[in-house]
Amino acid sequence: MSTQKTATIEKTVPGAEDFLPILGTDFVELYVGNAKQAAYYYQQAWGFQPVAYAGLETGRKDSASYVLQQGKIRLVLTSPLQEGGDINRHINKHGDGVKVVALWVEDARKSYEETTKRGAKSYMEPYEMEDEHGHVVLSGIHTYGETVHVFVERKNYNGAFLPGYREYKPTFSVDTVGLKYIDHMVGNVGWNEMNKWCEFYAKVMGFAQMVSFDDKDISTEYSALMSKVMSNGNGRIKFPINEPAEGKKKSQIEEYIEFYNGAGVQHIAVATDNIIETVSTLKSRGVEFLSVPAVYYDDVLDRVGQIDEDLEPLRDLGILIDRDDEGYLLQIFTKPVLDRPTMFFEIIQRKGAQSFGKGNFKALFEAIEREQELRGTL
Ligand code: FE2
Repeated sequence: MSTQKTATIEKTVPGAEDFLPILGTDFVELYVGNAKQAAYYYQQAWGFQPVAYAGLETGRKDSASYVLQQGKIRLVLTSPLQEGGDINRHINKHGDGVKVVALWVEDARKSYEETTKRGAKSYMEPYEMEDEHGHVVLSGIHTYGETVHVFVERKNYNGAFLPGYREYKPTFSVDTVGLKYIDHMVGNVGWNEMNKWCEFYAKVMGFAQMVSFDDKDISTEYSALMSKVMSNGNGRIKFPINEPAEGKKKSQIEEYIEFYNGAGVQHIAVATDNIIETVSTLKSRGVEFLSVPAVYYDDVLDRVGQIDEDLEPLRDLGILIDRDDEGYLLQIFTKPVLDRPTMFFEIIQRKGAQSFGKGNFKALFEAIEREQELRGTL
């Protein structure tokens, strides 16, 4: 199974250019109102382990950051320590949310040159940092909304996270829930902006469109969104981009844009090898998921064919199933993990399928609309 997955991940995505070799997602940084408590949530409920910390105790005066890890997924939670400044402004405008999608690269200087040369707006010129564990080079560019990509070159570094952070290993630990890596990260952009941002990833980053959703498939009266998936050359980085579309009801993308005050990361899809176990544990720890109508399971096997799992636990947990030419996938979406109806997580287990659950869109959007109805934002 795992060899098959590696082989699939390494296949070259047609049309992608690898002037920007990306080794993987390095970290995802969220600006949050209270990083200490958010860290506890991601540790206690999601099974992430704290690995590094920066704050007053490490000589940082204006912010505190907790770094948590599970499998290859690294989350950084950052809060301001004083009034004013960019982090406060970001939180005031967007609520808690993803600021940085950091990409692990061979060469952060070259990544910066190649992308800015192709039109990316600079966020951070290349700079080197070092401590007793070695040195790293960081650089960064802007993407949709106020979200940025930071390029991380860490081949000469073996510390806990980055210079400026100290290793943090609390005695309190929680079992992981089996999350392995980030499968994809989805951006919501404004009306008619999907193509613009897909072109950005094509031109500036050398990405190619991976899956072409037929508009008719997803811009239904239920879905009210359009989506395209951009991928880098080795397929390790997949960024679906959504824009709102006219539908029977108010688009969930529009709701996001209103509460986030602009474009931003809508969901982080994290992969597991055992979705039934992962979701059971998350639920037992209080993580809330969207439920699907029971009727979804009445004919799902007619649609997707034979699967290895028993249907019963999938139905009990509300896990969705979809199939494409290469296999099938199991997926489920959390409710927003913040007070604003903005960011959420997807748990995904791929059994060969390389798509994103298009067949579940209708069932899923009906579920989201029920939640919107409760919030009075339809
Ligand atoms: Fe997704």
